[in-house]
Amino acid sequence: MNEPTTLSSSWTILPPVSLHGTAHVPGDKSISHRALILGGLAAGASRVKGFLPSGDCMATIGCMRALGVTIERHDQTTLTVHGRGLHGLAAPGAPLDCVRSGTTMRLLAGLLAGQEFLATLTGDAQLLRRPMRRVTEPLRRMGAQIDDQDGHAPLRVRGSPLHGCVHELNVASAQVKSALLLAGLYADGPTAIRQCGPARDHTELMLAAMGAEVEVDGLEVTIHPPESASLTPFSLHVPGDFSSASYLLVAAALVPGSEVTIREVGVNPTRTGLLDVVGRMGAQVELLRTHDSGGEPVADLAIRATSLRGTTVSGDTVVRMIDEFPVLAVAATQAKGTTIVRDAAELRVKETDRIATVVAELTKMGARIEPQADGFVVHGPTPLHGAVVDSHGDHRLGMALAIAALVAEGKSTVEGIDCIADSFPGFWDVLQGLREAA
Ligand code: S3P
Repeated sequence: MNEPTTLSSSWTILPPVSLHGTAHVPGDKSISHRALILGGLAAGASRVKGFLPSGDCMATIGCMRALGVTIERHDQTTLTVHGRGLHGLAAPGAPLDCVRSGTTMRLLAGLLAGQEFLATLTGDAQLLRRPMRRVTEPLRRMGAQIDDQDGHAPLRVRGSPLHGCVHELNVASAQVKSALLLAGLYADGPTAIRQCGPARDHTELMLAAMGAEVEVDGLEVTIHPPESASLTPFSLHVPGDFSSASYLLVAAALVPGSEVTIREVGVNPTRTGLLDVVGRMGAQVELLRTHDSGGEPVADLAIRATSLRGTTVSGDTVVRMIDEFPVLAVAATQAKGTTIVRDAAELRVKETDRIATVVAELTKMGARIEPQADGFVVHGPTPLHGAVVDSHGDHRLGMALAIAALVAEGKSTVEGIDCIADSFPGFWDVLQGLREAA
């Protein structure tokens, strides 16, 4: 049924008969980053279970350790972060390497702006191409001293006194919002952030749970610098990553006869725009055993295959599913009618230009997909055919292409799969488990 090979960083995939069974996805990437960074600022030890041991989160571990935070790893997913308090970080001895992680770099830019030392943030070639003005400009408005390279990293951040102010964001970005909240912890007054869309709110939830004074009023978030100058440590069980679950969800919805349950997935509404969209497309997805874990909603997702119809995705929904467009494009190729994605120009500045790369790679498999300045249009249903496709070093594109291969006729090869461990180590084994259960 299937011939996986991991030779020369590629997978060869044949379509399965169907997918069945129960799967777990690794811990949420966004929450794992925040547990390391905020845990490092707490007044004492925080315990984290369900941590995501992915490339991106390992970059954050490396940076926090270089800032003097002791992080004990009890096993792959369980760790203790020994917080040094808000004013206990130490100057790093070398540039902080964020590798390919935009979240690491942008959040740390905000954190470093308010320290009493100089630090440099750098990363690999892919990260050095990504835009950083979105964080450096609002941070400079607070008094931050940051040297950049024409709007790109390396960023040289010289800690300085910060002033609270009101930010009107023109990009709906949780990374930017989080950088400003972290800087706001060190400002001389409240920092208010007016968002232009509902970006994921994990930072404000975690800060509030640690005793910080955070007010949320619709799309406006305000942080008051802590008067007692301390944040309470926490004990956290990181929920499964909805973005990682989305690949299995779409696979189960598309491969005829499939029935899959994904356990313990974070369903924070700022993350689950894809559920609304596939619901409109006719997918059968049920949320079971919904409960709360450390202030974050968690549920099991039960999916049955069914035929889908095209839809239009725009506005706030785009923000609530910003990482799910590669896999939505795959679903759209199998849906009856036209799927239109607009207001999604942000896709152009992700790990790759995801409008260009998704269109190029799915076209190789026979998809009828056209790029737009701020999205794409897909005409379906189209029988995909096996092809040799490439992740372009983008984990989300690599996984989306593996899902496309499940519904393509014949053999596909997905090249450049190493990057998948940036967010979903073990992706292949989890997918394989659902095939073997069939
Ligand atoms: C993230 C925010 C999003 C998302 C990224 C993770 C975060 O980026 O795409 O994968 O953890 O804050 P933007 O803030 O650039 O939208």
